[in-house]
Amino acid sequence: MAEPLIGRLVVIGLGLIGGSLGVALKAAGGCREVIGVARREGTGQQAVELGICNRATTSLEDVLAELEAGDVIFVAVPTLAVESVLGEMKGRLPAGVTVTDGASVKGSVVEAARAVWGEVPDFLVPGHPIAGSEKSGVTAAREDLYRDHRIILTPLDNTAEAHLQRVRAMWQAVGAEVLDMPVGEHDEVLAATSHLPHVIAYGLVDTLAHDSENENIFRYAAGGFRDFTRIASSDPVMWRDIMLANRDAILEAIDLYRGNLDTLRSAIDRGDGEYLMGVFTRAKAARDHFTKILAKKAYSEIMQAQEVTFIAQPGDTVSGTLRVPGDKSMSHRSIMLGSLAEGVTEVEGFLEGEDALATLQAFRDMGVVIEGPVDGRVVIHGVGMHGLQAPPGPLYVGNSGTSMRLLAGLLAGQEFDVTLTGDESLSKRPMNRVATPLRQMGAVIETGPEGRPPLQIKGGQPLKGIDYELPMASAQVKSCVLLAGLYAEGETSTLEPASTRDHTERMLAGFGYEVQRDGARASLRSGGSLRATKIDVPADISSATFFMVAAAIAPGSDVILEHVGINPTRDGAINILRQMGADIELDNRREVGGEPVADIRVRYAPLKGIQIPEDQVPLAIDEFPAIFVAAACAEGETVLTGAEELRVKESDRIQAMADGLKILGVNAEPTADGIVIHGAGEGAVFGGGTVDSLGDHRIAMSFAVASLRAGDTIRILNCANVATSFPNFADLAKRAGLKLQVA
Ligand code: S3P
Repeated sequence: MAEPLIGRLVVIGLGLIGGSLGVALKAAGGCREVIGVARREGTGQQAVELGICNRATTSLEDVLAELEAGDVIFVAVPTLAVESVLGEMKGRLPAGVTVTDGASVKGSVVEAARAVWGEVPDFLVPGHPIAGSEKSGVTAAREDLYRDHRIILTPLDNTAEAHLQRVRAMWQAVGAEVLDMPVGEHDEVLAATSHLPHVIAYGLVDTLAHDSENENIFRYAAGGFRDFTRIASSDPVMWRDIMLANRDAILEAIDLYRGNLDTLRSAIDRGDGEYLMGVFTRAKAARDHFTKILAKKAYSEIMQAQEVTFIAQPGDTVSGTLRVPGDKSMSHRSIMLGSLAEGVTEVEGFLEGEDALATLQAFRDMGVVIEGPVDGRVVIHGVGMHGLQAPPGPLYVGNSGTSMRLLAGLLAGQEFDVTLTGDESLSKRPMNRVATPLRQMGAVIETGPEGRPPLQIKGGQPLKGIDYELPMASAQVKSCVLLAGLYAEGETSTLEPASTRDHTERMLAGFGYEVQRDGARASLRSGGSLRATKIDVPADISSATFFMVAAAIAPGSDVILEHVGINPTRDGAINILRQMGADIELDNRREVGGEPVADIRVRYAPLKGIQIPEDQVPLAIDEFPAIFVAAACAEGETVLTGAEELRVKESDRIQAMADGLKILGVNAEPTADGIVIHGAGEGAVFGGGTVDSLGDHRIAMSFAVASLRAGDTIRILNCANVATSFPNFADLAKRAGLKLQVA
């Protein structure tokens, strides 16, 4: 058996916190022996009987005399008793013994150590397990209390590394995750997240229990009362100590809460339902998010959950009638324009993917009341062109380039400062393409190094309209400039080198805002207003393309994709696939809220390689990863040029697809602005293998589709971001006939 991590563990205070560490470390074989120290003899005996410690005593002095280097003392007594316990140790601790604790307030432990030793000794590692229950006492101790929970250590500058490592290893041995934090930060965070809820719960139960008119309250109290007040059953001594020990931080948290409660009170008093909806929808969104985190139990699981792998077994055909989720571009814009409109905008078909939700959250953070999404339905209570408020902190938009670039334009015209940040992939993407025209309009914007995020936008800057000739075909840049133009003096116009998606222009018109369009030029004047409207977001053609390609490459396939947006600035994939010989039929064409929509039927037909016309590139810009898979199945060579923009998407899509296709045995040669793919033709199959999607949703879904023509399993790594644009992809893919597993 391996050497235990530490020598002996001495647990002072055999309650829930101390007892649980004893029993868990003993079970994990993490120490030679657990010695319990309790004030009362009976407690010690009980702890031995319960298997919490090997032996127990009431005399700390005796135990200290037998300790040696490598042993650890865990002080698990109520916060205000820590000082006297440390006092008992003074002058009696053998060299090399580590002392740590589990008190919920760290500032007071550090002070107690100073009071005892004059300075905080280097063997003391203050710590706090973020675990517990309303139960207390030795019988509440549980072997699994710390598994998948976090332990915060608050070492000081002089804390010795060896002692720190020992404490860290001890907690890890019982399945906990250990993080470090400065003392002050710990106490502030805990005041808000733990100490304040306890004050409120104790206070609420006491209020109701003392109110004679409320004598029936407990008889009729239901789930809400029970859930909300569970923690009022916690150990009163422990919580009294915590309140006294963390006084300043708790007072600050109480004041903040009291202010909010007063505001809620007056909203209820004056019948301000709108205000209440704002608070409740924001709180619900935050709590729903937290519920998801809780469901994953531990931070480690969340991190692992990020590592989603698709395992695609070779499959043969796809069939059925499918409706893919709502259009991502329109979903973003519906929130932005709905928020700035006057009145209430109702959206149906909203994409509940992470990207569009990031935009939704950003507007909630800026004070907009947004109900939903529930089954694709969102209700936005517009605040008018000048009604946004400064967000409480930076706006984090995750993986979403559209959120960042469009918001940059909109926010450049506001009165407040704001910072936009994103995830690792977004933080590598170019932002000068929006910062440059915005600066020309008078905006004050700072980017990170090399024009990357974060974007810091200064408020209160007067903007003036410009006539901007876009250096690249980008709907995001065009939209950014036009949205800034809503706040700029005079006229703002954009001239694009090739036609790009025009949802911003169409939707502005749908909200009653005049936009002039003349070929490649779009212009608008500031000073107008947006009128709330109803928006029916059609299914996203970019998501539909994965199934169009699936049916086009898998012999015998026949799928119908319902209610897909076929805006002429988005239909490049249909045109390109048709040119390659795909059998695509558009049925039931109609117009919905200013956007053309159709049901798309695709039946298998052999494909041939083509030279992709450059004018189709911006019209199919997001569809190329899937089109490359079609090209790999086509007879002969497919050549793409003029598509350098693909190199700055969520990944370098030219390189990522070429690398993955090569692994599957496809002859694919990247070029500076495109790719040359030598298709294997009808009947040929790819090999299997492991490909990396690099966290790019569309690369992941494209290789899943490729499995239809593979001879062996394709494993696709890093697929979590599929949730940014197509959260139910795996379910729909399986329903259509793909043999896809998510691991
Ligand atoms: C989008 C525009 C395109 C596209 C992106 C969405 C939009 O980006 O790739 O997925 O909603 O305006 P570019 O403007 O960078 O081409």
